[in-house]
Amino acid sequence: ATGMFTFDPGFVSTASCESKITFIDGDKGLLYYRGYPIEQLAENSDYLEVCYLLIYGELPTAEQKEQFVHTVMHHTMVHEQLNWFFRGFRRDAHPMAMMVGVVGALSAFYQDSLEISDPEHRKIAIYRLISKIPTIAAMCYRYSNGLPFNYPRNDLSYTANFMHMMFATPCEEYKPNPVLVRALDRIFTLHADHEQNASTSTVRLAGSSGANPFACIAAGIASLWGPSHGGANEAVLNMLDEIGDVSKVPEFMEDVKAKKRRLMGFGHRVYKNMDPRAAIMKQTCDEVLKELGLENDPQFKLAMELEKIALNDPYFIEKKLYPNVDFYSGIVLSALGIPVSMFTVIFALARTVGWISHWNEMIGDPGQKIGRPRQLYTGADRRDFVPVEKR
Ligand code: SDX
Repeated sequence: ATGMFTFDPGFVSTASCESKITFIDGDKGLLYYRGYPIEQLAENSDYLEVCYLLIYGELPTAEQKEQFVHTVMHHTMVHEQLNWFFRGFRRDAHPMAMMVGVVGALSAFYQDSLEISDPEHRKIAIYRLISKIPTIAAMCYRYSNGLPFNYPRNDLSYTANFMHMMFATPCEEYKPNPVLVRALDRIFTLHADHEQNASTSTVRLAGSSGANPFACIAAGIASLWGPSHGGANEAVLNMLDEIGDVSKVPEFMEDVKAKKRRLMGFGHRVYKNMDPRAAIMKQTCDEVLKELGLENDPQFKLAMELEKIALNDPYFIEKKLYPNVDFYSGIVLSALGIPVSMFTVIFALARTVGWISHWNEMIGDPGQKIGRPRQLYTGADRRDFVPVEKR
């Protein structure tokens, strides 16, 4: 029990670790970053301020924020030799495959000065990752599309700079739409952290051995790639494309109930109520589509119809299946001009601060030990070796 939050003994015994960063109440649909409700942060804060909060545990003063933003924005370039890594990939390589490889390679560029027992050295790794992950993400997109890389611009905000690196061309000036920048910045905030999800637990376990933090983040990216986790937003769009039309929904729902398909973007290991991020994502999706004059976007309409049917269907109600953060994120990312293959890269970009905050919290704990999950052995009893001629 800590302050206002109390846990039943049964829950405490299954917890894999203690953390002060993020609190989730799956039954009530609550999500707090360092005690602040996600709804208030999404509405009133911005992603870099949320990064500061997740790392340091408090919202920054105006001076602290200015210093943090300046430091992050002045480390956004990557080592020029990193460009050569991309030339080794096939043009049709999945952007997540490139991101795993290049982020892992950062451990070959920035390992010299890293004594992770020193908080100041950990801070260097944290800032380098938050600064450079948008640059690498944009490079994955540019390379996949045969486009020249864009260098970062320090005169733009963190998210506007990301959109510049993604979409600017040398041929004309690129001016990010402030409504779309604000929407994408809020999407980053919604994805920033989520307690001990599969990818964050991967980073913690990898980091518990004292491994290089850049390599640990690459392990988190690999875990997030799966369709049951961060790959779900890509799977939602593919599912909507396959259903095609509202008239096909009843047939699809029958397949789901027959367990032939899963309603991607629905269900959650922890939330057995609405994922609070899904409602904010839906509102953000609505704002972006209105700004772009796409209110009648067929995929959005199909998604809303699918949600309405599922929320009133006894099968889904009984299994406590509600929309999660991924259900609407694909539609809004698509509207922002981000291709499906880049959806999980966007998720990884935003989640990097959560991963590295958990890594920092763990490494900074003097009682920290290497992770060593145990198992229930269900294999063969003891037996003696049999030579091949007798098998
Ligand atoms: C993320 O952990 C996190 O915090 C993750 C995340 C984060 O921010 O890091 O929130 C991000 O990963 C969100 C989840 C994105 N994934 C999807 O949308 C993929 C579709 N969802 C499912 O695969 C599933 O809901 C999971 C994996 C998300 C959760 O799985 P659970 O809670 O372990 O549920 P389960 O697989 O044990 O299913 C429980 C029941 C089963 O039926 P029964 O065996 O009891 O009869 O619900 C059914 C499942 O068949 N079910 C679904 C379903 N999800 C669960 N049936 C249809 N469609 C679905 N989406």
